[in-house]
Amino acid sequence: MQTIVLATQKGGSGKSTLAIGLARAAIQVGHTVRLIETDTQGTLSNWQNRRPYADPLVEPIYAARDIAQRLLTLPRDGATLTIVDTASGTSAATSAAIRLADLCLIPARPSIADIESAASTLRVVRACNKPFAFVLNQAPIRGRRIDDAATALGDGSSADLAGIVARPFIVMRNDHQDALNAGLAVSEFAPASKATDEIRSLWQWVEAKLCRGLNDHAKSGGELADPRYSAGTASDADARWDACL
Ligand SMILES: Nc1ncnc2c1ncn2[C@@H]1O[C@H](COP(=O)(O)OP(=O)(O)OP(=O)(O)O)[C@@H](O)[C@H]1O
Ligand SMILES: [Mg+2]
Repeated sequence: MQTIVLATQKGGSGKSTLAIGLARAAIQVGHTVRLIETDTQGTLSNWQNRRPYADPLVEPIYAARDIAQRLLTLPRDGATLTIVDTASGTSAATSAAIRLADLCLIPARPSIADIESAASTLRVVRACNKPFAFVLNQAPIRGRRIDDAATALGDGSSADLAGIVARPFIVMRNDHQDALNAGLAVSEFAPASKATDEIRSLWQWVEAKLCRGLNDHAKSGGELADPRYSAGTASDADARWDACL
């Protein structure tokens, strides 16, 4: 089983929306997905209550120690992918989830202020030496602001940035909000939409990044049976890159 954690200090950046969208995209390619919600706000639980389908199951878990325990038992329940939706701000639960992640995704709106406010999350991610990527969300359809935001992420080489800024950027589209209201993932609400295309492409990018993490881990002679407890799974590009945040 692999574990993706969506985390950032900034509220409203799209953690829950992306968790749902990625979960459904992963299910569509054959994963058995569990969503863990560490946010007492309950966005995912409320979404599940509105939802006409049982899958993916949402499990609210708020205590840091319980997250570790549950991640150990989930593979026995058949989960091949767990996506953890954390609360904004910093907390013991978010730090615990990051420590156990195979990949941390940091959603940010494409503005310098939003990217800067991810600094404290990024510090935890880097202290745990975890592979990570920014997901630029709620982006305008076109305009220079997105490229400015991507550039603002650091003065690393473009090759390094390519590894830590997920593609495509997720555009601000009403379908995401309407899907959330309806208890659906965007690919269920509007299967033939641009919003769905973008989320599916984002999943492909994320899947490739997860695969690279596993390959790096295998090359370093790590125990694949339990890669979440390894200290050193960040790729070379992640390790080289300095966000200057
Ligand atoms: N790409 C998008 N296009 C349009 N609306 C979006 C998009 N992403 C998120 N939203 C909307 O923005 C709001 C905040 O999103 P969401 O709840 O996913 O953020 P969050 O980071 O989980 O927030 P919190 O920190 O409160 O948990 C929601 O109303 C959601 O529908
Ligand atoms: Mg949320």
